[in-house]
Order: sequence, then C-alpha cells, then structure tokens
Amino acid sequence: MTGLPVGARAVDALLEASVVGSFSKTGPLVRRRTAAWRPYDRMDGRFAVVTGATSGLGLTAAIELARLGAHVRLVGRSASKLNGVLDRIRSDVSGAEVTGSRADLSDLADVRRLADDLVETGTHLDVLVHNAGALSRSYAVSPSGVEVTCGVQVVATHLLTQMLIPVLGGTSPSRVLWVSSGGMYTQKFDLAALEPDPAHYDGTVTYARVKRAQTVLAAEWARRLELVGVVVHSMHPGWADTPGITTGLPVFSRVMRPLLRTPEEGADSIVWLASAPEALATTGGFWCDRRRRSEHKVPWTRLSPAAAASAGPDLFDWCAARALAG
Ligand SMILES: NC(=O)c1ccc[n+]([C@@H]2O[C@H](COP(=O)([O-])OP(=O)(O)OC[C@H]3O[C@@H](n4cnc5c(N)ncnc54)[C@H](OP(=O)(O)O)[C@@H]3O)[C@@H](O)[C@H]2O)c1
Repeated sequence: MTGLPVGARAVDALLEASVVGSFSKTGPLVRRRTAAWRPYDRMDGRFAVVTGATSGLGLTAAIELARLGAHVRLVGRSASKLNGVLDRIRSDVSGAEVTGSRADLSDLADVRRLADDLVETGTHLDVLVHNAGALSRSYAVSPSGVEVTCGVQVVATHLLTQMLIPVLGGTSPSRVLWVSSGGMYTQKFDLAALEPDPAHYDGTVTYARVKRAQTVLAAEWARRLELVGVVVHSMHPGWADTPGITTGLPVFSRVMRPLLRTPEEGADSIVWLASAPEALATTGGFWCDRRRRSEHKVPWTRLSPAAAASAGPDLFDWCAARALAG
C-alpha cells in the first residue's frame, strides 16, 4: 500500500476519516483492490512466535505464517486447546512446521519459562507477535499483582521482549509486533490509570487504555532496539469476527456482525508486517490495512510535547519495575 496513486490515496483517506468505513469489512474490501496490495512474501526458514494463537486473530495469523513457510511457535494458555490447533494446522497446511508452548501470560513465571525455553534453543527469532489479550468485564489481578488486562498485554509483553533480546536482531533484522486496537483512539495515554480503582472498574475503558499503552510501549521499544536490527510496530485489526469480540463486546458484535471483518481480514496486517520487506523500512509505526496510521483521531488524546517525550521512558521503567516485582 505504500506509494499509492493519488486517487487510491484519497479513497483510503476518506475511509480512514469515516472510522466505520475503515474498521469494518469495507476497509479491506476497498483497499485490497489497489495494485499495491500484493500477495504475501514467502517466509521459508523464518521462525515466528505468536501469542494468543489458540483462537481468533492469533490462530489465523499463525496458520497464514505456516502456509508461507515459516516455522511457527504457537503460544497458548490451555494445553488441550494448543494441541487441538496444532493438530488442525498440521492436517490443513501441508508441510506446516508448527510447535507449541503453554504459557499463561498473566503469570510472569510462565513468561520467564517461555522466554528461557526460546533463548535456550538459540534459534534466531525473526518475528514475535504480541497478540494475546482480552477485554475483562470484571476487575481481576494477575498472579504478578497487576490488573489482568494490563498484566497480560503490557507487562508480560514488555518482559517477553526484554528476555528475547538475545535471539532477536543481528544481521537478519527481526520484527516485534504489538496487536493493539482501534479502541485505543478513545483514550489518552495515562500511566497512573493503568492501575485502576477496583471500586470503579470499567473493563472497556481499561482495555482501551491498555491498548493505548501498548502503542506507547511499542514506540519506546522501537527506539531502543533500532540499533540492534529489530523493527517494532503496533497495529490494529479493525473489527473482526472472533470469539474475543463475541465475549468481550457481545452487544457490539451482535449489532455489527454484518459489517465485521473475517478473521483473515483482521489478521492481514499482522501477517503483512511479519513478512513484507516494506515493514522493515521504518520502525515504531502504528498500522492498519498495510498503511501507517495516525495514533490520534481526536485532539484530546494528544499529550503535550513534554508529556509525549516522557511517556515511553516512564512506561518502560514502570513495566520493568512491575516485571521485577511479579
Ligand atoms: N477481534 C477484534 O475485532 C479485535 C479488535 C481490536 C483488537 N483486537 C485484539 O486482537 C488480539 C486477538 O483478539 P481476538 O479477537 O482474536 O480474541 P480471541 O479470539 O479471544 O483470542 C485471544 C487469544 O489470546 C489468548 N489469551 C488471552 N489471555 C491470555 C493469557 N492470560 N495468557 C495466554 N493467552 C491468553 C486466548 O487464549 P484462549 O484461547 O485460551 O482464550 C486466545 O488465544 C487481542 O489482543 C485483541 O485485543 C481484536
């Protein structure tokens, strides 16, 4: 989608401005008609790790990466679910190289075990997809003592990235991807709000704040890893019909069902960012439908220049402290 002709760029901008046009199935339906939307590049010999790979977008991305020839390590919290999807991929995708690791990412002991296991193999990690996540209706604390949405999607992703540095980067550039959400457009980054008051817990607001924090964390990691050959991006999948959206936002998913993307359309930018050479040309971007997108749709989510400059380092230090304590 880079280097789009003027007409296609104008249509893309109109869709983006309409929000529903962009986030719904209309977005990929229109955008994939452009000449720049080409088939995925092969990933033979590449090693990719996908968290939350037992359902929805993570499973869809894992299947597509395996189809492209990558060795995919699927991470899931349920051993039986994991074995089920591994069997399914092996029977559906001829020659698929897929393996599994069980880890509940709300438990930092599991995150450490997963990272140690991946580092011990010494295999260069080409792609790490931080996809696992859910919208929690009620307040819960992870075993590491952090609100669970934030624990899984922010603190655990930070720790996993940190611990995998020995197998990332080098002469062959790696990609680390955060699967955020368009919901983050509704919230300004607020570090203190990542520890919500249990008495006034709102799962939807917490989720949107966590998704905003993921983009801040991804941009900070992008800055820190640039010199060691690791490219970092975050993306949002639009609104896709997955078990996660059905349980997390039941009314929304019922009303919007005819407009929801397929899991393949939602996962497209994950697969594209994992495989396309274009994704290596820059770092620290926020993407949807193969294009970099603004991180703000309304002025009140923008931080002052001073707050914006300290947001990434402050969140990084906060995550490091939580990871140490958990
Ligand atoms: N679908 C959408 O429209 C949409 C929109 C914006 C953003 N997203 C984001 O896309 C990602 C995938 O969502 P989805 O819609 O595909 O949802 P999904 O179908 O519920 O899949 C979520 C995956 O995350 C895993 N997971 C959740 N908590 C975990 C934990 N503590 N430890 C390990 N794995 C855990 C789930 O494991 P189990 O299978 O064991 O439950 C599942 O594999 C999420 O980060 C979500 O926020 C989705």
